[in-house]
Amino acid sequence: MQRRNFLIWVSRMLGSAVAALVALPGIQYVWSTLSSDTSVSNTRRRIVRWKDLRPGEPVQFSIYGERRDAWHIEPQQVIGRVWLVRQPEGTSPAAQGVTAFTSICPHMGCQVQKSAADASFVCPCHRAAFKLDGNPLQQGAERNHTPRGLDQLPCELVKDDAGDLWVEVEYQRFEPSLTRKVIKA
Ligand code: FES
Repeated sequence: MQRRNFLIWVSRMLGSAVAALVALPGIQYVWSTLSSDTSVSNTRRRIVRWKDLRPGEPVQFSIYGERRDAWHIEPQQVIGRVWLVRQPEGTSPAAQGVTAFTSICPHMGCQVQKSAADASFVCPCHRAAFKLDGNPLQQGAERNHTPRGLDQLPCELVKDDAGDLWVEVEYQRFEPSLTRKVIKA
């Protein structure tokens, strides 16, 4: 290579390296805003009247909220789903509370469904099964892939001005595939 060509090649390489250094923070910023899920979570929602739930019958509800990323804000989007299970009859409303679970499977994040066969939950992806109290359910010899029980959400009965009890849930998301429950940042 001639000396002149070599110098041109070196100056181009240096120019490319400097350009890459200058562009890197911008690329990192764009990548982080595109790849991060900044939709609303850790949000309290009033879901349903307590008296409209039947004891021992799970019902699924959608959680609505604002979904946003670096460039868009979309109001009133479904940001999650919860299963509510009212405790069996025979106790006072205070004791006959409601248990709330996120519908996201703790194995790999599919949507857990109510079993058509019995009082349990099942995940359609890898057949993880759960009791109505959220604990893993062993079904025969079939392996239950879930690393933990269904993720329970903070849930409270709140009286309105008319004296009706409402179920309020704090919606959260959790890291999948871990044996312990870790809230997603
Ligand atoms: S994602 Fe639910 S069992 Fe795998």
